[in-house]
Amino acid sequence: MRLDMASKLLNFGSKFFKSSKNFFNGAYGKRSSSSINARKWTGTRQKLLTFGALTGATGLLMYAMDASVDASSDSVHPAKQQWPHKGFLSAIDKESVRRGYQVYKEVCSSCHSLQYIAYRNLVGVCMTEAEAKAEAEGITVHDGPDEEGNYYDRPGKLSDYFPMPYPNEEAGRAANNGAYPPDLSYIVSARKGGEDYVFALLTGYCDPPAGFALRDGLYFNPYFSGGAIAMGQLISNESVSYADEDVAPSASQIAKDVTTFLCWTSEPEYDIRKILVIKVFVISAFLIGITYYIKRLKWSALKSRKIFYLPEIQEKAKKAAEDNCPK
Ligand code: HEC
Repeated sequence: MRLDMASKLLNFGSKFFKSSKNFFNGAYGKRSSSSINARKWTGTRQKLLTFGALTGATGLLMYAMDASVDASSDSVHPAKQQWPHKGFLSAIDKESVRRGYQVYKEVCSSCHSLQYIAYRNLVGVCMTEAEAKAEAEGITVHDGPDEEGNYYDRPGKLSDYFPMPYPNEEAGRAANNGAYPPDLSYIVSARKGGEDYVFALLTGYCDPPAGFALRDGLYFNPYFSGGAIAMGQLISNESVSYADEDVAPSASQIAKDVTTFLCWTSEPEYDIRKILVIKVFVISAFLIGITYYIKRLKWSALKSRKIFYLPEIQEKAKKAAEDNCPK
């Protein structure tokens, strides 16, 4: 048993010695078998290529399927508009948000809720605190119970959310021919086409084409899926009047303002996120720059060195050393 172990150890030792000799030999010319294996490398490459090709093909297939669904959809695609907030460095137009709030309040709020927006959210965006407070005080909030256990009505506060137009979904449906006006808080993010879709929907009402059977209480809008929508045309020229006389309340201006307002309600953090992205770009450009420089600096010794072994030179040097040695 012991002998066995000893012979194994010996065996291992000699193998190790051989392989290490091979390793050192590799330094001058003779490639050992443990150095880069060409066949293995091509194997990995083939796998990577196959993987890349498969991923590309899947992407193309998904794109083609999406395009074909789009092409066969039952509504007109909204035109792309030049939104002022779409640029890399541009923020949401806050004056437009302010006017859009007015449009929402005067036109849309009789049917649509905006349940995730509170009056305090308007402060610093499109209103001063006093203005937002005055807006909030315009609504009546059913609150309670008070110390005697009674429910009571009070004027709104900054912390109150926008009021609901209907007490429940059934009441909303009953008032609108069975269709429920959806909450508009996230409508721009929730619909394909985003702001382009909402704008096109609001301004896109027209007569139905010949042969299009429209049920009673429905309106024709080519941008709405199916073409028949339970919401009538609400925006026309001068359907609201703006305090700013320089802005003409044309139908498209009103629709643009309310859509910009709904963009903001969908992403109230939009501007903050953009500023963050700009900071990240600037800082990482700087950091990547110095990282590249430091890498080049630290690796320069390794990258520019040359290792070679010339036995004749070594022999000469050895002899010279021996000759110089004091006898
Ligand atoms: C008279 C009530 C009423 C008013 C006022 C109203 N809507 Fe609607 N709205 C509806 C109803 C009902 C629907 C649901 C339509 C349907 O499903 O057929 C709807 C649906 C919508 C949709 C969703 C469409 C979709 O893709 O599902 C948007 C966006 C919308 N309204 C925006 C507005 C805006 C903006 C205003 C204010 C300018 C407004 N609405 C005013 C009743 C109203």
